[in-house]
Amino acid sequence: MQEENLNKLRQKVQTLALRHQKKDDYTGWFDVIYSDAVGNSEQVPWAKMQPHPCLENWLETVDITNKTALVIGCGLGDDSEILAEKGAKVTAFDIAPSSIEWCQKRFKNSSVNYLVADLLNLDSSWKNSFDLIFESRTIQALPLKIRKEVITAIATLLKPGGTLLIVTRLRETEDDPDGPPWAVSEGELSQLCNYGYQEIARTPYIDANNPSIQQALIEYQRTSLTRG
Ligand SMILES: C[S@@+](CC[C@H](N)C(=O)[O-])C[C@H]1O[C@@H](n2cnc3c(N)ncnc32)[C@H](O)[C@@H]1O
Repeated sequence: MQEENLNKLRQKVQTLALRHQKKDDYTGWFDVIYSDAVGNSEQVPWAKMQPHPCLENWLETVDITNKTALVIGCGLGDDSEILAEKGAKVTAFDIAPSSIEWCQKRFKNSSVNYLVADLLNLDSSWKNSFDLIFESRTIQALPLKIRKEVITAIATLLKPGGTLLIVTRLRETEDDPDGPPWAVSEGELSQLCNYGYQEIARTPYIDANNPSIQQALIEYQRTSLTRG
């Protein structure tokens, strides 16, 4: 994507997100981005049209055949598709109806169950029920005002013994960051301990377009339902 286009899109994201936020609407702007793009992924600033490289590398090290996997805020579906190719039974959801429609058009013969759903209002039958959860850049896309709620919602979906993978920007202090995206802090991630999570590994990620930004794939295991 050309730098000029990317800067325009970043500006659009800032303006839209802040306009919606003023009305206490933290998610309504995502669908605007997908629907305005009318099928042109270059108009979706986060769309890479390929699985995240950290997920690809992680998948080289594990066997996920027949595991139940959930992809949160699945965007245009590349991460969901690679999980399905590796043998997982994948459910993928996004709050933006236009992104789910786009996934369904793009991957017509997919085994992935693509759904429109809100992380903050999921069916209670999903609680503690997945073997693997993948979330890439959704926590950071939602403001600090609802971060506790967002992390709690993610934490309660995994089975004990299951694996949670988070791809995110990280910040070094607990101070409020500029955004969107709003990088995630260690204090925010530490909430996961309350739900029985232990960090297993952290792989730093450098995006060639944004080399100065601290990002990582963090792998957690849920050892119990509550703090051990
Ligand atoms: C920055 S994009 C990342 C998309 C994709 N995960 C990726 O890494 O390419 C954040 C995604 O989260 C979705 N999202 C935001 N809030 C959500 C919510 N409450 N429930 C479900 N999806 C949400 C957005 O629609 C958007 O597709």
